[in-house]
Amino acid sequence: MVRSQSSDTQDRRFHLTAPSGIKALISSYGASLVELHAPDRAGRFADIVLGFDTQSEYALHSNLYFGSTIGRTANRIRGATFELDSVTYQLAANDGKNHLHGGAVSSFDKVDWEAEERTGDAGTAVMFRYVSPHLEEGYPGQLDARVTYTLTDRDELRIDYEARSDRATPVSLTHHSYWNLTGDGSRTILDHELQVEADSYTAVDSELIPIGTVKPVDSTALDFRKPSRIGSRIAELEDTGARGYDHNFVLTASSDGVVTLAARLRDPESGRILEIWTDRPCIQVYSGNFMRPVVGKLGMHYEHRGGVCLEPQAYPDAMHHPNFPSILLHPGEVYRATTVYRVLTD
Ligand code: GLA
Repeated sequence: MVRSQSSDTQDRRFHLTAPSGIKALISSYGASLVELHAPDRAGRFADIVLGFDTQSEYALHSNLYFGSTIGRTANRIRGATFELDSVTYQLAANDGKNHLHGGAVSSFDKVDWEAEERTGDAGTAVMFRYVSPHLEEGYPGQLDARVTYTLTDRDELRIDYEARSDRATPVSLTHHSYWNLTGDGSRTILDHELQVEADSYTAVDSELIPIGTVKPVDSTALDFRKPSRIGSRIAELEDTGARGYDHNFVLTASSDGVVTLAARLRDPESGRILEIWTDRPCIQVYSGNFMRPVVGKLGMHYEHRGGVCLEPQAYPDAMHHPNFPSILLHPGEVYRATTVYRVLTD
């Protein structure tokens, strides 16, 4: 494993490599995935995630969350507030009136994590640690969070999350890479085929906050039970608050603690396939609808919908919905979650 620094600032970057030649570059800033190089069906490698060359660009475009670890809580919290044990906690309203992806200043994508290289039987790995103080971003409890990236010799990028708190606090961590299996973010992901192992999704209001009901995907543009082009029905969602796909799918087979296939993304042209396996109950599919054209790594021009995010997560806004599984972590408990991004070709 080689260690380096990005040219402008102090984030540390770690190269992981698999025997097949698959390579990942991971940064301590936001514990984020910066590059993932995967072969097409002819064996030609390309970088399949969007990102920036320098930490300052990540900070400048932080509302994109390119490749980041998201925490303390993924997705939105209505009204940027919640009540716990009769105390009202006030969070940053960084998405209109609501709270998004853990906050505005020191959410997990915007902090520099401690890093420790680890190499074992499972592959090459790097473990990041961040201790978030009590009331940081308004959340109760000192939260000790760890995120370990392992590149296995089965061509999987495995992400293991662990967290402990000294007070009850909500926790839902996820990963926010924008995938573009062509390796060219100036092309949209509309021709990618997507399959999602979900019969239902959480219905939302115009601000993308769950209203509490879980609805069937049947006969909707959200039916990805069979592989379907992302672009084939996206126009039906253009006039909604999401302006495309930005939905939380409830996974059919996933149950806590069992890592199960959640989604499969395929670029028919290159033959690259990405499988997402997780032990989380849900996955957010976000088709980059709020992306504006931006210059990314190596001067590449990324376009609107230049990437698709596939974010395994707990039920969003669970603090306000007793019918959703709880996301509370109590003292003495360990939060554990695993997501595996597996690359292959057809
Ligand atoms: C998530 C949200 C989107 C958007 C992106 C970041 O995926 O669901 O609405 O905020 O993050 O731009």
